[in-house]
Amino acid sequence: MAQNIRSAEGVLRSVPEPGQVVLPKEGETNILITSALPYCNNVPHLGNIIGSTLSADVFSRRNRRTLYICGTDEYGTATETQALKEGITPRELCDKYHVLHKETYNWFDIGFDYFGRTSTPLHSEISQEIYTNLQKHGLLQRQEKEQTYCEDDQKFLADRFVEGTCPHCGSDDARGDQCDTCGRTLDAIELINPRCLLDKKHKVIHRVSAHMYIRLDEVQARTEEWIKKSWKKGGWSPNSVINADGELVDARLKGGLRPSPVTRDLKWGVPVPVSADDPDQEMSGKVLYVWFEACIGYPSITANLTSDWKQWWFNPKNVNLYQFMGKDNVYFHTIYFPSVQIGDGRDWTTLHHLSTTEYLNYEGGKFSKSHNRGVFGPAAKETGIPASVWRYYLLSTRPETADAMFSWADCVSANNNVLLNNFGNFVNRALKFISSQYNGVIPEGPDVPGPLSPNDELDADFVTDVNNLLKEYIDAMDAVKLRLGLQTVMLLSARGNLYLQASGLNKALIAENPARCAQVVTRAANLIYVLSALIYPFMPATAASILAQLNAPARAVPDVLAVDILAGHRIGEPAHLFKKIEEKMADLWRDKFAGNKPVEAAPAPDADATHVVPAMSKRKAAAAAKAAKKEVDDAPKSAEVLAWEQKIAEQGAVVRDLKSRTPKTSELEEEITAAVLELKKLKTELAALPK
Ligand code: 2FM
Ligand code: ZN
Repeated sequence: MAQNIRSAEGVLRSVPEPGQVVLPKEGETNILITSALPYCNNVPHLGNIIGSTLSADVFSRRNRRTLYICGTDEYGTATETQALKEGITPRELCDKYHVLHKETYNWFDIGFDYFGRTSTPLHSEISQEIYTNLQKHGLLQRQEKEQTYCEDDQKFLADRFVEGTCPHCGSDDARGDQCDTCGRTLDAIELINPRCLLDKKHKVIHRVSAHMYIRLDEVQARTEEWIKKSWKKGGWSPNSVINADGELVDARLKGGLRPSPVTRDLKWGVPVPVSADDPDQEMSGKVLYVWFEACIGYPSITANLTSDWKQWWFNPKNVNLYQFMGKDNVYFHTIYFPSVQIGDGRDWTTLHHLSTTEYLNYEGGKFSKSHNRGVFGPAAKETGIPASVWRYYLLSTRPETADAMFSWADCVSANNNVLLNNFGNFVNRALKFISSQYNGVIPEGPDVPGPLSPNDELDADFVTDVNNLLKEYIDAMDAVKLRLGLQTVMLLSARGNLYLQASGLNKALIAENPARCAQVVTRAANLIYVLSALIYPFMPATAASILAQLNAPARAVPDVLAVDILAGHRIGEPAHLFKKIEEKMADLWRDKFAGNKPVEAAPAPDADATHVVPAMSKRKAAAAAKAAKKEVDDAPKSAEVLAWEQKIAEQGAVVRDLKSRTPKTSELEEEITAAVLELKKLKTELAALPK
């Protein structure tokens, strides 16, 4: 089949033999790609998919030597609490959701080289080795802290396992990390009459617990130096850590990093390494903090794929690491984990380029698993919309610089107006013409193989436009501007349509000017061949279908339009790439996925408003608020709400930390204001989640 095709197979993405793994090669561009490891206590929604796994997939499908790693992030309190709710063990919970994640990504054609998990022996081993190295380098410090402890269960109660009376507003159902009634962030030991959530009759006391802290302060100078260097080299877009001028803007860096706890009093996690003959057994029985070991999941999952994993992870000279994540993960990937790697002291491959996304919202509100609002994981296929079309719509809406909104009307319109009328129409019109008028064989024409001359009298504008757009596509993809890359593909097919129109491609042209007609269809077929390569990262199944219709092998993205499909080549059977979706389906799906609660976001609670209310009415207000939300709280919380609460707790800790600092310089005051604003924003967002 390939005799009349000039192919560029040599530069396609390396596809390993079955059972083989792509490894980096000295002197080549070796690209290691990760997408944030999703928590394993829920099914992913479309926002999670576009946020990291799908975006990273697109980037991994470029024609280079790549390895794409992802997996589930399984440890932590969120898993333990969800397991409690579902009445199963954390291990059973993770087994269940790991499969659901995997199936969902599979359906979306997300082609990880490996989708692993963090609850593996190798993950523990690698995490423990790093912990031990930090200890050797004097970067771990013991600190004691009073914590809530259940005498009946004989265990410390992490924030989510304890509730009690709020010391600020008197509400008696405040949680260990915050009071929902007055909105204040709490430390569990501040609660009056603390109760164990496992059994409210249990006796909860205060007990001192020792934990190990990583000396981020000791490493800070090296971390900053690394950020400043990597930001330039990897072309990071401005984010919450470093701005467009290369200034470090993260409040924690500016205020000075502080030691951060790396151990927890929990069961479900990586055991803190303590050797049996160590006289100091204080840390045995504790686990590593989930955010300490989560990013270690990337190398450990690679290690579960191949024993040669170090060729990727200890090879900074030959490997460029691209990491994809939602904006809330930036700190952990640019400051926290790099500090751990620096402190560990080995020659790690570190973040080269980070690609972050904002949030994808849903039909004027938010996705909510608890109220079934939005499309979750496996439900996408119930619509009958093909995975390729889902991928197109999600990627064309990718929230690259601001939050974006999923809408059914837009989704249907993307299919009908862009994919069908523009892209699909161009491919189908040209191939059908070749099939019906030339019996499926590319006609002899005046073209010679090779790049087309932009000086060509009749097609000068066409060739110039196509080549300019090709350059724009390559630049956009290199800079990981995926949405722009995809838009450019659609501009190219639109240019193709215009070309067919302007050339007057129809039966009459064959009769009047056969040489010109042959030239036009040759150009069109070659542009379609180029489009197959351009669309491949975004819509791999569509690319495969185009190649089958062209009867041509997969090819790489060229710098310029050339004649690669030559006269005499027989194409395959033309077929429509897309089907029209009736517009009324948008209403149907909107109803189907609307969930079971009205969309209205609750008004944001203003934490400071209570300051101006007299004490008596404050209590009344608290009681009223409590009554109003009792029903809500009796229901199990969704993992989404729990995740939000965790974010609030973390931000609360940042605020408390900043507030505890002296002297109160004006710069510090500014940071406090910014951190409080961020905390309020998170609380507003939590309030807007349907309860
Ligand atoms: O935000 C999240 O979903 C985290 N599970 C991301 C972890 S990314 C990396 F650290 F593993
Ligand atoms: Zn309160």
